[in-house]
Amino acid sequence: MTGEVIETPRIVHPELSARLQQHLPFARAECQPLPDEAGLSLYLLNPDFPQHALTAEQMNAVLNYPAYWAFCWASGQVLARFLREQPNWVAGKRVLDFGSGSGVAAIAAAQQGAAEVVACDIDPDALVATAANAELNGVQLSLHADFEACAGHFDAILVADVLYDRDNLPWLDRLADRADRVLVADSRIRDFSHPRYQKLGEWESNTLPDLDESPEFRRVSIYSTVAT
Ligand SMILES: C[S@@+](CC[C@H](N)C(=O)[O-])C[C@H]1O[C@@H](n2cnc3c(N)ncnc32)[C@H](O)[C@@H]1O
Repeated sequence: MTGEVIETPRIVHPELSARLQQHLPFARAECQPLPDEAGLSLYLLNPDFPQHALTAEQMNAVLNYPAYWAFCWASGQVLARFLREQPNWVAGKRVLDFGSGSGVAAIAAAQQGAAEVVACDIDPDALVATAANAELNGVQLSLHADFEACAGHFDAILVADVLYDRDNLPWLDRLADRADRVLVADSRIRDFSHPRYQKLGEWESNTLPDLDESPEFRRVSIYSTVAT
């Protein structure tokens, strides 16, 4: 025994890294396992990226092009864990992940036996990331940029950390009209009151890689539409 530390090689996704580098020089999309032995890995921003050393120009570029898909948000992780513990929400069902980002909730639904999963995101790069992450985890998803153009009714719609933009609040009704049940996980809006939704509880997590956010953003609430 020499005490030598052997580093596991980091698996980098070249195309996703190139997309990140258009705005963030030296950024890489690296394969990272989710904590809690989730059995789910994602290509995310390299954890050793020097977030605090960005120039003002780079910071502006990030703000103008937020690569949400390069992070696994606290709500996506909590929702993936919730589905692992209660697969009946998605098993055998037609499911849509609205605002899929990295695809974490869509992939978790597929892993828990959903019959069909559609990942929907308005950011074309997020759909590229979702496709890469689906392949990484060996699951099949279909991809859509426009929810209104997705045909048919869904058994379940998943929504994780999409309400950060208050303009998205009207989606709570639109999505509830298109599915038997909607599951909303959110770290930004806690205790929203809506006649069609009930709160199921609160869970702890943090964004991956860790953005060092304030403790309030590490608490995720899950709501579901009331069963009809
Ligand atoms: C903060 S990220 C969350 C990603 C993922 N659900 C997670 O939990 O890690 C929010 C995502 O919602 C997407 N989004 C925002 N508004 C949307 C809309 N109207 N339709 C579809 N996607 C939307 C964004 O492009 C972004 O990828």
